[in-house]
Amino acid sequence: MKKISVSAPGKLLLMGDHAVVYGHPCIVTAISTRLAVTIEEMGSGGVQTDTPGVADTRFITSALETASKRWGKPLAHMRVVTRSEFTDTYGLGSSAAVTVATVFALQQFLGKPKTIKEIFDVSYEAVLAIQGVGSGFDVAAATFGGTVCYTSRKPIVRMNTEPIPLVVGYTGVKADTATIVKDVAGKRERDREKMDRIFSACAQLVGQAKIAMEESDWKRAGKLMDFNQEYLRDIGVSSEKLETLISAAKGAGAYGAKLSGAGGGDCMIALAPKEKRKAVEDAIILAGGQVIHILPNTVGARMEA
Ligand code: PMV
Repeated sequence: MKKISVSAPGKLLLMGDHAVVYGHPCIVTAISTRLAVTIEEMGSGGVQTDTPGVADTRFITSALETASKRWGKPLAHMRVVTRSEFTDTYGLGSSAAVTVATVFALQQFLGKPKTIKEIFDVSYEAVLAIQGVGSGFDVAAATFGGTVCYTSRKPIVRMNTEPIPLVVGYTGVKADTATIVKDVAGKRERDREKMDRIFSACAQLVGQAKIAMEESDWKRAGKLMDFNQEYLRDIGVSSEKLETLISAAKGAGAYGAKLSGAGGGDCMIALAPKEKRKAVEDAIILAGGQVIHILPNTVGARMEA
């Protein structure tokens, strides 16, 4: 009986949050937290699922339905099983990871290998069918891995970075991404000129950060993160808790720090010199945050033995 396993990584948005929804580039890195999907052939029956560790199974259903429709293959006689390293609360991209892993596993299971771009397209469509909004940056990280400069509906640009000296702090508050994205859209409706000016400025910062990161100029990259955070604060998506952790990290010697993702909660990120890493982590904990130990710049969706 056929059995295929695929895993896909989570993500952290390094620069360009929100602006990426409006056609601007962002920088996203794939992280070491992964989710695996195994599809096993069954003698009979429809599609069975056994999905421990997956908080929202609609993404699996949507991935299977979208792929089956697109590839003209009705699905039956299979069992879909997940294995997750994610804790859903952190907002590290488990939904995109489970979607991409399911789509990738299914094409292998059906014996119809597709291009990686097709895996991305089907996964993005499946995610949009559930979330309604989203730039697809998380799907890009889960599919392609590494650290990429991503613009919605454009080819991804892979970045060449040395290990990124990233520190991640969780606020303890779960962010509601879809609501925040819709709030920002409302603000843009009310003051398009101001919001578009801010998003264009963020895009400039992303371009500069790409260069700084590829040159391993972390001091400059940190400064650019700080500027990005000022804009995110301006558009009203930061929170007191995020600001507290960001200040704590900077006070302890981080090159720079910002929120990561929609804002309102979830995680903040900082770039820290090696010798200050421990101090920055301690400061985040002292300020009431939780340090999350992950590695950035990891491999994208791949077959597992
Ligand atoms: O909250 P997260 O980590 O899912 O990130 C959302 C990032 C946004 O730019 C605000 C939305 C998007 O889809 O790009």
